[in-house]
Amino acid sequence: MCGIIGIASNKPVSINIINSLKKLEYRGYDSAGLATLNNSQINEKKCSGRVDELEKILFKNPSEGNIGIGHVRWATHGVPNIINAHPHSSEKVSVVHNGIIENSDELKKDLEIKGFKFKSQTDTEVITLLVTQFLEKSEPLEAVFKTLRKLKGSFALGIIFKNFSDIIVGARRGSPLAVGYSNEENYLGSDSYALKSMTNKISYLDDGELCMLTKSDIAFYDVNLKKINKKIYTVSDDENISDKGDYKNFMSKEIFEQASTIKKCLNEYTDSIKKDINIYNFPIEPKQINKIILIGCGTAYHSCLVAKYWLEELTTIDVEIDIASEFRYRNIKFNPKNLYIFVSQSGETADTAAALDICKKNKVKTCSIVNVVESTIARSSDWVLPIHAGPEIGVASTKAFLGQLIVLYILSLKLSKVRGDIDKNKYDEYLRNLHKLPESIKNTFKLENEIQLMAKEFLDANGSMFLGRGSSFPIALEGALKLKELSYLHAEGYPAGEMKHGPLALIEEGLPVIVIAPKDKYYEKTLSNTQEVIARGGKIFFITDNKKRLLSTNIRYRLRVPRIDNLLSPLLLTIPLQLLAYHVALLKDCDIDKPRNLAKSVTVE
Ligand code: AGP
Repeated sequence: MCGIIGIASNKPVSINIINSLKKLEYRGYDSAGLATLNNSQINEKKCSGRVDELEKILFKNPSEGNIGIGHVRWATHGVPNIINAHPHSSEKVSVVHNGIIENSDELKKDLEIKGFKFKSQTDTEVITLLVTQFLEKSEPLEAVFKTLRKLKGSFALGIIFKNFSDIIVGARRGSPLAVGYSNEENYLGSDSYALKSMTNKISYLDDGELCMLTKSDIAFYDVNLKKINKKIYTVSDDENISDKGDYKNFMSKEIFEQASTIKKCLNEYTDSIKKDINIYNFPIEPKQINKIILIGCGTAYHSCLVAKYWLEELTTIDVEIDIASEFRYRNIKFNPKNLYIFVSQSGETADTAAALDICKKNKVKTCSIVNVVESTIARSSDWVLPIHAGPEIGVASTKAFLGQLIVLYILSLKLSKVRGDIDKNKYDEYLRNLHKLPESIKNTFKLENEIQLMAKEFLDANGSMFLGRGSSFPIALEGALKLKELSYLHAEGYPAGEMKHGPLALIEEGLPVIVIAPKDKYYEKTLSNTQEVIARGGKIFFITDNKKRLLSTNIRYRLRVPRIDNLLSPLLLTIPLQLLAYHVALLKDCDIDKPRNLAKSVTVE
């Protein structure tokens, strides 16, 4: 969740480092810094706050040098301030780090006993001083290698050396690290996105590997410091990614492009001529699949929750779901006939990647549903189903969530068909309904004006509840998460049927309660739960696809999304909740694309 960049060039690098850090700010943005090497001097510049602050510092006091490293931070050890910002430099080296060194306290004590002085509260500084120590008797690569053997925990590193003015050393364990190739300069970065504006030729380090860059060469080394070769990928060009166009922020762009991203995804996975779904190379023969386990974090976990309802409805496969940070520590009974599916927008979430690694070690078949096909999780899976949503920059996930849902639905439908769990007529009907989705999404956006008015009712409320049954329950969770992470207001998603078992005590006069109630088999039950809330003074915001109006004074707002096949209603019901969270956050003047305390890709535990 921090961003790293390194550039070895035949020309000054600080401007390109700054531009790359701006692209990496979605990974973390509470402080920033860079260090360049010029005439065997390390020029370190740092700031608390955004990269713009660092740019102002450099404008007043430029940092020369054709080699350098940069960093944007999401604090793990030490408050966000200039001293704790990266790089962390000694008189011999400068280091940028993404990850957590779990034994930093004991290493710090050892180094202090040897007379080393620490300036910061960070775990990273132990790396700086260990490399400095080992440089006494070793060349840079060897000094870094010796340092890594002392470290417990995760790291992606970029290191420059005062007395070696043409190299950058990188290393990776648990946090992603990529390198980029160009003419007369080479790059190191947390992910390919930071490098794409400079090159589309990318290689990825795997855990335990090191690299050494100069402006003309990149060498790779394995965990035993033996030279190895790495595949060079030509990565896709992100069309107009850095351009918000006429939108005020990335999140609004990403909300309103969902009709087109879903359409693009459907085009990728469905064949309108053959009237079939283009998913074939299952890692397990579909009829042999004993159980599917779906694993993710945050919003990605919510998509897993929805998919459980679909798989149970459309197939005879047993389905489990789990939060990755829980799954990775369970005593799992692995079964080779189980298919383990990992959902992750970034494909770099540490808990999800760790859960995947455990499955790989237990030799079971894995599938990942990701938005970044070059990501660690995608490259580690037996089978990858991309969501084709295009880069999602807003920290709060919107189009990626709908992309995850549509791919999970398409997979469920295909499994159902190839297993013979549904007949061809039903399959064809479901396929036809799928192609109505982009237009229905567009029509759902027409609710925005009403939602803008609704948003005002949340500003002074003492929290809010989001309720739903069946596949609307995970959508309630997702709506509450969006409101929390964008507006910093308390919000809770709950199964509507569970309110009477305790949470009803929270209902007080005027408390906003969003009820998600499509006209499905749960509708009447959800109405009863709504009446229970109204009877206790709750202010109801009713989201449905039912034409029939509800007669009650306490229905403060009734939003009607277009009617579509019940199985697909979760995708439409999500959109008003995205817009609600967005408009409440706008009214509160919150940072829409970079909410406080968060990061787009959580690459630490
Ligand atoms: C989504 O709005 C959140 N930013 C967060 O919950 C996110 O979904 C979670 O961190 C998982 O990220 P991933 O999909 O990249 O693995």
